Amino acid sequence: MPEYMLTVNGQTRRVDCGPDTPLIHVLRNNLGLKGTKLGCGLEQCGACAVLVDGEARLTCVTSASNFEDREIVTIEGLARNGTVSRVQQAFIDEAAAQCGYCTPGMIIAITALLDWTPRPTRAQILDALTGHLCRCGSHARILAATQRLVRED
Ligand code: FES
Repeated sequence: MPEYMLTVNGQTRRVDCGPDTPLIHVLRNNLGLKGTKLGCGLEQCGACAVLVDGEARLTCVTSASNFEDREIVTIEGLARNGTVSRVQQAFIDEAAAQCGYCTPGMIIAITALLDWTPRPTRAQILDALTGHLCRCGSHARILAATQRLVRED
């Protein structure tokens, strides 16, 4: 089994996996980072998003081997010293989840958006969330959580 070196949440980790193993399986099964969710497995739902060099990237199709020498941050990596990130806190404050399955991918998408565009318009927020599906219909609260952060900035 080939070995790859991945940098995840600030730590360099050696993983053994097949060359075609999608990154999400390595994150969840090899590294025990279960926060990233597998939804469609077809790059169509957004549940599996993580930050890669600061950009939101889907992980259910692309092989882990393609992420060597990249900085990967999962939902677990957003909290600092036990304190949730401001995006995570806004989701809590706005109760922007029901089942929560899509939430990690949504938070990753909004984190990336705000890092690159600190004061996004409503249209930019909606654009960032394109491709992130929520079966519970929490989109309005997710939008409200993000707009709360823009107001507070
Ligand atoms: Fe990757 Fe749906 S699980 S986009």
